Amino acid sequence: MKLEEAKEILTKYGQSHILKSYERLNEEGKEKLLHQLDHIDFEEMKALFEKTKETVAFDDVKIEPMASVIPEKLSETEREELKTVGEDLIKEGKLAVVTMAGGQGTRLGHSGPKGTFDLGLPSHKSLFEILCDGIKETYEKYGTLVHWYIMTSRENNDATVQFFEQKNYFGYPKEGVSFFKQSELPMIDESGKFVIDENGFIKEAANGSGGTFESLAKNGMIEDMKQKGIEWVFIGGVDNVLVRMTDPLFLGFTAKNHYLGTSKTIVKAYPSEKVGVFCKKNGIPSVIEYTEIPEKMAEETNAEGNLVYGESHMMLNMFNIQTLENIAKYKLPYHVAHKKSSYMNEEGEVIKPDSPNAYKFETFIFDAFPMIEVNKVGLYRGKREEDFSPVKNAEGVDSPETARRDYMAYHKM
Ligand code: UTP
Repeated sequence: MKLEEAKEILTKYGQSHILKSYERLNEEGKEKLLHQLDHIDFEEMKALFEKTKETVAFDDVKIEPMASVIPEKLSETEREELKTVGEDLIKEGKLAVVTMAGGQGTRLGHSGPKGTFDLGLPSHKSLFEILCDGIKETYEKYGTLVHWYIMTSRENNDATVQFFEQKNYFGYPKEGVSFFKQSELPMIDESGKFVIDENGFIKEAANGSGGTFESLAKNGMIEDMKQKGIEWVFIGGVDNVLVRMTDPLFLGFTAKNHYLGTSKTIVKAYPSEKVGVFCKKNGIPSVIEYTEIPEKMAEETNAEGNLVYGESHMMLNMFNIQTLENIAKYKLPYHVAHKKSSYMNEEGEVIKPDSPNAYKFETFIFDAFPMIEVNKVGLYRGKREEDFSPVKNAEGVDSPETARRDYMAYHKM
């Protein structure tokens, strides 16, 4: 973008404070800032600021539970059938896996990318290596490479790639791994102005787990998958030490039932657990976040004493490639987070606020489910001790300590 054009746009959208920052930058910085302005959708940002004034209303939404298929309730023959379908697809090279590693991992507080975190096992494996072990095992068993796409962020991409290089891709063929960067959006202050970061540029933040679809498409990854003949894509987080990205049963369940999007759910441990649960909103498969579910609904139990809304979304999702491509064409809804964010004021001073001062906009991966044909979404019940133990906090629940314990129990160490 040329300076004249930038002046016009910034004035039109009430963002002229950026010009003051521009003046303070050196030539290289000036160019970088103009380049940054190029990819910002000003109309979208204006609409997002308007959204910060809205409150979420559920009054006219009819919420009903959504059931999952429990594999243990299927017959041995049915389970075998699903497993065979899944295994055949893996052998034919129809499965790819995506790891979302673009998050900031603020709660854990590890200085590098979250995937480089050493879990503290006797082997000192990092989260990335733990994830890689699963696909390596599949590769050794079936002889087919499962392509691993890793979503990074602008901030952590170089450190992530460097880590993989240093560790020689943990022994997995390098050609089986691709990295792509997640898109970002400017942060806005309470008066609707773009936040300026400590270096004088527009402060941007990753656009949330829902950004995976658009970022996959934008970086040519969906095209790459199609060229490789991939039909099914598992998408999971970087921090679940029990994630089984290549579970043939889950894949078989998805493909054999002709679902287009499925999720492996885990029963909520207790009513107030901070996880979203699947439900039907006006008949449409959706996830209701823990911050949104009314207490009474969260605690409701059925005749057997089980939670009615207990099918938790644990970021263990599988999509058909065509569906993935379709979702990537549409914008998922943005959720607004009010955050504390340091910034540079108009005098060029860096301010560290004590209370939330800025808005960050994120999309969530589970918002993809309402976009899929109603009967083409399926839930498959996983087991906590086999499928889910995340590293979120430095201590206490969902910490390295609990993940280490669960990992060692599962792997019988
Ligand atoms: P979380 O929401 O738990 O965030 O992400 P986080 O970054 O790991 O940790 P906190 O909240 O800052 O402490 C769940 C998964 O989604 C990925 C994360 O990397 C993690 O695997 N994610 C999240 C992204 O890839 N991009 C995002 O913008 C957000």
